Parts: sequence; structure tokens; C-alpha cells
Amino acid sequence: MSTYHIKSLEEYFQVYRKSVRHPEEFWAEIAEENFVWRKKWGRVLSYDFSKPEFKWFEGAKLNITENCIDRHLFSRGDKTAIIFEPNDPKEEAQHITYRDLSARVNSLANVLKAKGIVKGDRVCIYLPMIPDLAIACLACARIGAIHSVVFAGFSSTALATRIKDSSCKMVITSDGAYRGAKTLDLKSIVDAALESCPSVQSVLLVKRTYNEIAMKAGRDYLLSDLLEAVSSECPAEEMDAEDPLFILYTSGSTGMPKGMVHSTAGYMVYTAYTFKNAFQYREEDLYWCTADVGWITGHSYIVYGPLANGATTLMFEGVPSYPDFGRFWEIIEKHQVNQFYTAPTAIRALAKENLDFVNKYDLSSLKVLGSVGEPINEEAWHWYNSNVGKRKRPIIDSWWQTETGGIMICPIPYVTPTLPTYATLPMPGIQPALIDEEGREMRANQVEGRLCIKFPWPSMARTIWGNHQRYKETYFSAYDGMYFTGDGALRDEVGYYRITGRVDDVIIVSGHNLGTAPIEDAINEHPAVAESAIVGFPHDIKGNALYGYVCLKETGETRNQDNLRKEINQIITEHIGPIAKLDKIQFTEALPKTRSGKIMRRILRKIACKETENLGDISTLLNPECVEEIIKGAL
Ligand code: WTA
Repeated sequence: MSTYHIKSLEEYFQVYRKSVRHPEEFWAEIAEENFVWRKKWGRVLSYDFSKPEFKWFEGAKLNITENCIDRHLFSRGDKTAIIFEPNDPKEEAQHITYRDLSARVNSLANVLKAKGIVKGDRVCIYLPMIPDLAIACLACARIGAIHSVVFAGFSSTALATRIKDSSCKMVITSDGAYRGAKTLDLKSIVDAALESCPSVQSVLLVKRTYNEIAMKAGRDYLLSDLLEAVSSECPAEEMDAEDPLFILYTSGSTGMPKGMVHSTAGYMVYTAYTFKNAFQYREEDLYWCTADVGWITGHSYIVYGPLANGATTLMFEGVPSYPDFGRFWEIIEKHQVNQFYTAPTAIRALAKENLDFVNKYDLSSLKVLGSVGEPINEEAWHWYNSNVGKRKRPIIDSWWQTETGGIMICPIPYVTPTLPTYATLPMPGIQPALIDEEGREMRANQVEGRLCIKFPWPSMARTIWGNHQRYKETYFSAYDGMYFTGDGALRDEVGYYRITGRVDDVIIVSGHNLGTAPIEDAINEHPAVAESAIVGFPHDIKGNALYGYVCLKETGETRNQDNLRKEINQIITEHIGPIAKLDKIQFTEALPKTRSGKIMRRILRKIACKETENLGDISTLLNPECVEEIIKGAL
């Protein structure tokens, strides 16, 4: 039996039991047999939930790029590491071998060094889905710089917030990005952001769209020029197991985005292990995850997890609807994709289109279908199963988070029997717990509660950059000795988990986490707005959409409401990005508040969801009379 690769349900249970009874032995064996270390660890795990502090493989020395690249050069040098499928299907796909990848990563690493980047420095990466994005991450890791990738759909304000929070010394970006029929000008977004980011000393530019861009002398450099001057060999920096590998920002229910910090060794071991098992990846397979590297799914399951296994990973620059709704299926046929990992929102959007878009293509290469980012509803599950999997291919509904680093609850394909809308069983090493209203763990089956994890796992985020207190409060203060996920879940009679959704003020729109507070803060900047409250309501493609209740300063504001709505969405686009725009905006005289002045979102949520029959007791509100008015004006 191999602990690293689970091949039967019996093996899964055996391995799982071992991972719970002897976690250190379990992870040590996996780490020892499947990775290259410059020096072995002293201790596998030490932890203290009250600090909180978690250390895995402490004392070990390694570099993740030696595991993701160098060690493959001998046996897999000519194997394709990354396939790049451009936005425009007429542009030729690129096949980057492990040898090419090594040269490109090493060269870029030398450029970073030449520009003064040293171990521990933060480098912001703001790039479209082109190979340079993965290469930039790996080049940082090569020299021990901490990358902070910001999704290239974020606005200049959101980008600036993230650059400043971790005082990045450099930004790697491109002239522009292709997304479907659109060309986006990334450079001017970066220029606007950098007006308020004094920490940034240099900007490296990748040419992609060849549009006109302004170059600031002494700060901006064309990467192609710099690459000419460097060697394609760069020794890997020796890193401690617990040295930070990257920061990735995620929305919280309040205020600033949280810069989740991931460590080197634990993250590597866990993402590689889960990649192997959740996708049953075999040597000759071709794997495709449609996420953007700007999100955790791309970090763990486009870049690090696949490359640590010597896999071939496909990066797609475009969108599922361009040039038509058959694009995903065309790519699967063209490259003979074996594992396909996407989001429910994409499935729902494609399920609305003519079935010919799917049926035109030969999808017989597919072995595993994955879903991630939000609950997959029953209808979307069946559509995916029937039309893409042809009822023969398992769907793995994988639940996890930016904070968890890797897949936590997920069927192992061809091993765990799947069930629509269930993420099924925990990965080995993961010990979920459901907590009731009183804060007690519910040990029985057939219960629903708040989802926590009661034992450390290697890829858990170690802190929030610059704010350990917030890390403690957000994740470790709700229940002693446990990590609180912010999600609700139920466990059925056989022990399968089904994630029921967020239990905090984070709303998942098209698979993107959006905190209500930053959106409200943006809206409140509008000069006519007094206050606002955002809630989610069901949307048949996005899963959830945003509904805003807005109180204006002047009652009887005479301005055209549609114009105001546009202005409000414009402000949101500027502060956060178009992904956070509101679908519905209702103007109201007042918001329902508790006597202590807190907005009662529960009531607003019910009104937005048109569930007004049972609003519960509103008599304790400070201003119960406003509820009737809001119901009348509901959109
Ligand atoms: C939600 C994405 C149900 C959940 C990897 C979680 C899911 C948040 C699933 C994290 C799933 C993710 N079923 N809900 N299979 N996967 N979620 O940080 O609410 O972008 O807390 O990480 O997405 O989103 P994040």
C-alpha cells in the first residue's frame, strides 16, 4: 500500500485512520518519500492553537522550485510542464517543457536579483493568465522572495491597497491582457496604483498586447530587455520549511483584505499530495484547471501541486464564452485533457447555452471532472455529469479555502462514491468538526453546524501579513483549539459532508469571495450616500448576486435614481473591481437596526431573497417601522 497514492476505498479508510492516529508519522512518510530536501526536519509538527502557531517540518531546508522543476529535469526534461492556450484560438498553443521552464524561471530569478530583490522581499505580480505568471511565481520562490499575486481584474485602488499592505518592492505586470473580445490596459492600472505606493522601486513589463504604454524612466523596465543580460542558471536559495512562500489576499467580513501567508514545506507537501489523489493524476495525464492564478486554486492546482508531481498543466488565457460557448470543450478535445477542474458558475453559464456547443466535441479523453469555489447545485451537477462526463466520469466536488492552501473535503475519484452536492469525505490528515449553537462539537451523524477543523494540517495559512491578532480573532477565537472556516456544513448518516454556505458576511459571487464591508465602504464614499448594507440573493448563474440597500443623505433626493445606481456601481468598480458590482440597488429611508445600532442584515437578506413571510421577531428593532417600507420598495 502506498500512503502517497490512494487507489481503493479500503485504502482510503486505512490511510485516513493512520493520518488521525499518527499524524506526524503519516506526514513524515509522505514528505520523506516524495520530495527532495536539502536537510531533513527536526520535528514534524509543533503547534499551539492559543497563540496560534503551527510549524511543520521545522528545521528542514529546501527550495520548492527544486521540487517543482530541477528534480524533474533528468527524467522529464523534455516533458511538457505547461501548455499555454491563448485567448484567441487562432494563435498557436505553446508547449513549455520542464527544461524550458527551468531556463525561464532561472533567468527571471536572475533579473529579480539584478533589480535588488532578496530573500524575504515582497513582489507583487499583476499579470494575465500567460505562462509568465506561473514563471514569475516560481522565479520569486527560486530566490526566496515572497510573491503576492493580485488577480488582474482588480482595480487600481484594490491593487494599491494590496501592494501597500505588504510593502512590495517590485511589481511584475504586462502592457495589457486579452479577455475574450476585450483588451485590457493593465499598465495604466498599475501606474494609477503606484501613485500611492512608495515601496515599489521597479516595475517589470511583459509584452502581451503590444498596445502603447507609458514607461517611467528609472522605474519601468521591459522584461525582454533585462532577460538578454542574464544567465539562465540561478542557484536556488535555501529556505527554511516555515519561510513564507507567498501572500495571497482574500476578502474578510470587515475592512481590509487579509493577506494570508503560506509557508514553504507544508504547503508544498499538502498541495502535491492532494493534487495526486483528488485528481488521480498519472504520469501521462494532461491536467487543466480553468481558475486564474490570481486565486488560490490557481496557485495550488495550476502551479505548485501539478509541477511538484511532474505533471503537465494547462493554462488558458481566455474565457469560456469566446469565441463561442464551446471553447472549454474545444480545448479539451484539442489537447486531450484528462482532468478538468472548473467552477460551478462556469458550468451554470454554459448549461444555459445550446447543447450542440458541448456535443460537437469529443470529450472522451476526460477521466475526472472537478468543481471548486462554491456549492455546486444539483441541477448544475447533473448537467456536468450527463453532458461532460457522459455519466461515466466522477465529479469531485472539492471544498477548501485560500486559508487552507489545499483541498480539504473531496471525493477521491474512482475511490469515493460521489453524491450530488456533497463534498463527501475529508482528505487524509483533515479532521473536520461540526459545532452547534452552544459551541459544542456535534459528534453524531445527520447534524448540521459550523464547520471547523480540529487538528493542524501542513498547508494551513500561518498568519495574516502584518496582523497576527486578526488571524487569531478571525479563525481561532470562535472555538477553542480549532480552526473556524466561516462555512456551515451538514454531515449525513454515512458521514458525508455537504457545505451549506458562508455563515459570516462574506458572499460568494461567481466563485469570488466578497466581503460586504469593503463594498459598503466604497458606496459610502459617494457624496449623496449616508449609509448602505449589502446582502446576497440567489442568482441562477453567479450562485449569489449582490443586493444593496442604500440610504441617501437628503431624503427626497431629486436626482435620477438610475444615474445614482450607475454612479454607485462605478465607485465599486474603482475601489474593488467589476466583480463586486451590485445587481440590485434599492434606495430606502432607513436600515433596520438593533438597539445597539447594528444593521440587521438577516432581515435585509430575507427581503432580498423574497422570503418575507417569516421575518422573525422585529419588535426589538430600534426602528421596526422601516421594515414595511423596505418590503414595499423591494426590487
Ligand atoms: C466556498 C476557493 C461549497 C466556501 C478554493 C469557502 C465551497 C470559500 C466549495 C473559499 C465547495 C469553496 N462547496 N463551497 N466545493 N469550495 N467553497 O478562499 O464558502 O476563494 O469558504 O477558496 O468558497 O473561497 P476561496
